[in-house]
Amino acid sequence: MCKVPVQQDHETMPSFDLCSRFKRFKLFEPSVGVLGFFLVSVCVICSFFYLDYRAVAKGYRVPNQGERFMWLKLDEPSSSSSSISEIKRVDFLSLEGEGCDVFDGDWVWDESYPLYESKDCSFLDEGFRCTENGRPDLFYTKWRWQPKQCNLPRFDGRVMLEKLRNKRLVFVGDSIGRNQWESLLCMLASVVDNKDSIYEVNGNPITKHKGFLVFKFKDYNCTVEYYRSPFLVLQSRPPPGSPQNTKTTLKLDQMDWNSIRWKDADFLVFNTGHWWNYEKTVKVGCFFQEGKKIETEMTVEHAYQRSLETVMQWIRNEVNTSKTRVYFRTFAPVHFRGGDWRTGGSCHLETLPELGTSLVPAETWELLEIVTDVLSAHSNSSYRIKLDMLNVTQMTAPRKDGHASLYYLGSKESPAPIHRQDCSHWCLPGVPDAWNELFYAVFLKHSINDTFNSSTYEAKV
Ligand SMILES: *[C@@H]1O[C@H](CO)[C@@H](O)[C@H](O)[C@H]1NC(C)=O
Ligand SMILES: *[C@@H]1O[C@H](CO)[C@@H](O)[C@H](O)[C@H]1NC(C)=O
Ligand SMILES: *[C@@H]1O[C@H](CO)[C@@H](O)[C@H](O)[C@H]1NC(C)=O
Ligand SMILES: *[C@@H]1O[C@H](CO)[C@@H](O)[C@H](O)[C@H]1NC(C)=O
Ligand SMILES: *[C@@H]1O[C@H](CO)[C@@H](O)[C@H](O)[C@H]1NC(C)=O
Ligand SMILES: *[C@@H]1O[C@H](CO)[C@@H](O)[C@H](O)[C@H]1NC(C)=O
Repeated sequence: MCKVPVQQDHETMPSFDLCSRFKRFKLFEPSVGVLGFFLVSVCVICSFFYLDYRAVAKGYRVPNQGERFMWLKLDEPSSSSSSISEIKRVDFLSLEGEGCDVFDGDWVWDESYPLYESKDCSFLDEGFRCTENGRPDLFYTKWRWQPKQCNLPRFDGRVMLEKLRNKRLVFVGDSIGRNQWESLLCMLASVVDNKDSIYEVNGNPITKHKGFLVFKFKDYNCTVEYYRSPFLVLQSRPPPGSPQNTKTTLKLDQMDWNSIRWKDADFLVFNTGHWWNYEKTVKVGCFFQEGKKIETEMTVEHAYQRSLETVMQWIRNEVNTSKTRVYFRTFAPVHFRGGDWRTGGSCHLETLPELGTSLVPAETWELLEIVTDVLSAHSNSSYRIKLDMLNVTQMTAPRKDGHASLYYLGSKESPAPIHRQDCSHWCLPGVPDAWNELFYAVFLKHSINDTFNSSTYEAKV
């Protein structure tokens, strides 16, 4: 059978070869003719199937005529193994790739994905093991992120581990940050033969552990760590004399106590956002506090902004940005259709990305705007903070197909009841792998820059 063609398969067709072979079977010419007709038909159908996939891949845009034409030129000897969409793109890591916005692009179907399988990775929470929990389709694991203007380097765990040698990579944030961290653990672990050489330094299990987890890759003397801190700022007991319904407060002007453990990391990846809403704060008696004052009137959006400013101040005052490279991953959209997680919202049976972002709630873009404003205000001043934004919100918005939906309860209890879907977290392998490929690209770009100082770098052209 003709499988869905992939770029690698798309080598020149051995049409010449086939013809001469057919000639040798003169005796069976009629049946060969039928067979030939059949083969050609199958290939034509497959080609259209493929083009269709590419259309889906490009956000349902039908490729323009030029591209279609080029795709059909199967006998072009120079078409090598690279897909047409990559022909004119420069490599992000090359000098010409400077300035390419890797977050601006499309999802393309790629049979060579996923990068690992969940059954081979022991560093995954049950909640992310969708296939093992019974999710029937694998489509969501087959999309690769393709920037418009350049090509990303293919993820190579060995290269990344080598760059991490003797270093600490720390993820801080909410459970979506944990989702990303576990994805990276699997991506890195997939190149390590001796899995016993990777372990949690305090012997803690990965499952259902709150607080922090520090995984060491022994052969590389590096750690890849996760600290749970959904707000980044300090959540603590209310001050005396607070209103009666106050259970906790978020001290918007003070960092989480654990920040002392983060600040000396070599690489620091923040995220926050999913807990900055009314339901998870004010409604449950968690009020905002600045100084000694409880701000009962403050909106969640304003509080979010204040907390981000505190994070920026902390980076400025506490983090040595010559040593520590700071990244901020933007909010990842949720995709509940017809409700939210408590009221029967759904993403079950979503098996393809969508072009429109109709499922993404408006608050997502509000939160993103706040982040963008705070971050750009701080990258603008003369006292510039070195910080990289992993701007994944927009690219993730079409991926309504990537969530755990009913398959987050472990292999025995899944599927969950239909009104209890998880449309926030992501199946692994899946969408967070793509964030990590982008992280990898940006990470390598820096290390290339650091290796050659700018003048030697220029001289290499
Ligand atoms: C984030 O990426 C989107 C999509 O490429 C782009 O429109 C937006 O301007 C980017 N935001 C920032 C702050 O770079
Ligand atoms: C391991 O890495 C740490 C830094 O994280 C460094 O202090 C230590 O010397 C390294 N150990 C070896 C054996 O290289
Ligand atoms: C900051 O880090 C750089 C590079 O590791 C180091 O040379 C410098 O002394 C550090 N500065 C401070 C104030 O610790
Ligand atoms: C950066 O600063 C310039 C000059 O002060 C100002 O015109 C511009 O709006 C600022 N940009 C941002 C994104 O804050
Ligand atoms: C790399 O260095 C060049 C030249 O010094 C600079 O323009 C560019 O912004 C740097 N890129 C990154 C990702 O640091
Ligand atoms: C950068 O390169 C220039 C020219 O090759 C050299 O003179 C200078 O010492 C280098 N600086 C560093 C910090 O390596």
